[in-house]
Parts: sequence; structure tokens; C-alpha cells
Amino acid sequence: MSGDIKKVVLPVAGLGTRFLPATKVMAKEMLPIVDKPLIQYAVEEAWEAGITEIVFVTGRGKAMLEDHFDYAVELENTLEARGKSAELDIVRDLMPAAGKLAVVRQQSPLGLGHAVWCAKQIIQDEPFAVILPDDLVMAERGCLAQMIDAYKDVGGNMAAVVDVPLEQTNRYGILDVTEDDGTLARASGLVEKPDPADAPSTLSIIGRYILQPEVFNVLDRQEKGAGNEIQLTDAIAATMADVPFHGLRFQGTRFDCGDKAGFVEANVAFALQRDDIGPSVKDALKKYL
Ligand code: G1P
Repeated sequence: MSGDIKKVVLPVAGLGTRFLPATKVMAKEMLPIVDKPLIQYAVEEAWEAGITEIVFVTGRGKAMLEDHFDYAVELENTLEARGKSAELDIVRDLMPAAGKLAVVRQQSPLGLGHAVWCAKQIIQDEPFAVILPDDLVMAERGCLAQMIDAYKDVGGNMAAVVDVPLEQTNRYGILDVTEDDGTLARASGLVEKPDPADAPSTLSIIGRYILQPEVFNVLDRQEKGAGNEIQLTDAIAATMADVPFHGLRFQGTRFDCGDKAGFVEANVAFALQRDDIGPSVKDALKKYL
């Protein structure tokens, strides 16, 4: 029903003010979960889903995100000279193929919809994915790969969704659900960060989207919504009469790494899963609980 998704947009222009002072000079997307930065989890999830072309929507002070996906000549020479081949593989295996990482600038922080719109010239007229690296998903099969499986059947626009407690609806885009088979929920509307009293459901969008290029027609208007920002949620909602929207309840656990407690929890969960450090982290945690 639907063509292959080859491109992913990663909005990475945000300032990360919630993580100051750690993010004073460092991009928040470089914060590590154990030993791998958030941005790398996002890129690897895209690759696992069969995506080959990566687009960073970036801003001032974020050049290290591009550097992370390039040669680090001095480091690699030193590792080579010392015979550290495992470490050398770690730094080389994360390199995209030549020409497969594009970078566009979002000069002003006008909202997520605006950030995605900044990639229009590279995406052009084809369906594409969006990953927000703050949202980290631990899953056997990557969240975006699961979405693409479902998208092959239903097409249209799609986001990964989770049920949240009612008091948290004001943190997320929320679905107005019309049909729900327990896995896929079709929505007739989306509301950005509604107060619990106004929320049409508790089904909330996490930072994974598959979008049709029609969304750019709406974003072209640069209309501001909730929080006086150009919202991706509003643009998706505005195309719903023509482009069906589904939320996918994926298999896996989502960690909101834009939140300090969520970030620490992700570190614990990913550390406990590791063969090398899992047992010692588990022992150490017992001291505090
Ligand atoms: C953005 C979206 C929101 C979505 C959330 C997922 O909000 O606007 O609809 O639920 O990402 O993380 P932000 O977290 O940028 O405030």
C-alpha cells in the first residue's frame, strides 16, 4: 500500500535547558545512556528500520553531533597504534555511508513543526520518518521498524503512542480516538498538551512519526499553536481529512530522556541489561533501595 521510507528527520536544535549545566557546551543529544549518546540510539533505530538517509535539523553549538558521525582521525590513529581494534570498531561502525547524513539549520526555536518543516527541501515529495532522540525506546525490534511494519498495511500518517496517566496529558500530543483494536488506534483529531480536563483520551504521542509530505503544505503556513509554537501535532491534525492517522502501541518500553528522572531510569534499565556491567550495577543499586 505504501512506498519505502528512506529518510528520517532528527530535530536536534533544542537547547536542553532542563539539563543545565551539563548542556552548557554539550548538545543534550550527546548525553549518554551508559556509554552511547542518545543521538546514536536514534540513528541506529533508523538504520534498523531500513532507513538510509539521515537529516539532522540542528542549530548553533550543535556541531559535535555531526562530528560524532565523522572520522576522529587523531583518536583512530592512536587506537590503531595501540592495537585497540575493538574500540576502533566502536568508533568506526557508527559512520553513515558517504553522503547519507544531511544537516539543515533551524535558526530560531519556533517549535517542532517548524523544525520538521526546515527539512522540507531535503525530504521533498516522499513519506518520511521523524525520531525525537529524547524519547528512547528499549525494544527487541526497534520502535520505528515496528511502525514501518504496520505502516505497510495502513499507510497514511502514524505515530508511536503510549497510554499515560490522565494528569500527564499536558505534556504530550493526545489522540482523539475513533477506532482502536488494542494495537492500532485511528484518530480523528490530535490535541497538543491538553489539560487533563480537556484531553480527548490518554493515548499520547511519543517521538516517533511516519509522515506524508502533505504535512509540509500545512507547515508552510507557519501557524502557531499551543505554547505559541508551530506544532507538528496541529499540522498532522490539519491533514486528517485527506490522510488517515494511526497511533501504534509498539512493543517495548519508552524512556522520556528529556526529563531528568526518565534519563536516570533509562541509564539504570540499559545498564542492567548489559552482560558486562549489569550484575555489578544490580549489586550497587541494592545499597540505595
Ligand atoms: C513533542 C510533541 C508532542 C509529543 C512529544 C513526544 O513535545 O509536540 O506532541 O507528544 O514531543 O515526546 P515536546 O516534548 O517537544 O514538548
